[in-house]
Amino acid sequence: MERTMEDAPQVVPARAAPPSDRCVTGIEGLDNILNGGIPTGNMVLLTGPVGTGKTTLSLEFLVRGAEAGETSLFISVTERSTKLAENLASFEFFRPELVEEGRLLLLDLPDIYRRLGLDHEELSSEEIGLLTRSIIDLVAEVGARRVVLDSLTSVVYRIRREEQIRDFMLTLGAGLHRLGATSMLVAEISASEGRYSSHGVEEAIVDGVIVLGNASRRGDILRVLQVIKMRGTSHSRAQYVMELTPIGLLMAPHLKGSGTEPSVR
Ligand SMILES: Nc1ncnc2c1ncn2[C@@H]1O[C@H](COP(=O)(O)OP(=O)(O)OP(=O)(O)O)[C@@H](O)[C@H]1O
Ligand SMILES: [Mg+2]
Repeated sequence: MERTMEDAPQVVPARAAPPSDRCVTGIEGLDNILNGGIPTGNMVLLTGPVGTGKTTLSLEFLVRGAEAGETSLFISVTERSTKLAENLASFEFFRPELVEEGRLLLLDLPDIYRRLGLDHEELSSEEIGLLTRSIIDLVAEVGARRVVLDSLTSVVYRIRREEQIRDFMLTLGAGLHRLGATSMLVAEISASEGRYSSHGVEEAIVDGVIVLGNASRRGDILRVLQVIKMRGTSHSRAQYVMELTPIGLLMAPHLKGSGTEPSVR
């Protein structure tokens, strides 16, 4: 008997795709290093000495997300967001519409501190709880899928006690994970420090650690990137040379014997 269309197995209409298990950073080379991206919901410490490109990398992460339709939130502590927006304009991959349409949100944490009345230099446990809830509520309210806090170091400076830093980060991490938001927390370290964060507890709590650093080559300083850990995926642990270009960051393997002296931290 001849088969007709009616005999053919019914095609079940596709449902909306489930959220991807990977947050594809969109940064050239980084997704390959991470075997496809950051596992969704991971909280990543992005750490390195001054001028190594932490803010630039985290901003590109957000811009690429916003371009891909994911609401992206930058919480700035050290630099005014208006200044960041001006810097962003120099990158070819940035379109001001992303900010105008609310897909890329740039906020200043000092404004949030002020709104919450957090004016003591050292925050109490209650104030830390209030701050954590406010950040999580904000992420939920705007539906952010990518969040950057630049920098964690400045927040931790007002928390100070290690068990409170731990609580803050665990609560924040759990809240963001529940919301499916992938985050980068920027940490500032000096080149001589033997750890990745100001207290050393931060790197143990986060799901991932990406280190930016400097390497000297014949009198020049190169920027380098290395993924130290990333829960939920295998990844390269090699060191890459990172170039800041108008079209975004570019990664290239850091070849041994090329006359460079690596000094990632
Ligand atoms: N638009 C740009 N085009 C090219 N290079 C840039 C641009 N903006 C910044 N840079 C370079 O990047 C460096 C600083 O990058 P960035 O601010 O991302 O570093 P950082 O690690 O966040 O520094 P800090 O620790 O001071 O916050 C600058 O010194 C400059 O050389
Ligand atoms: Mg910075």
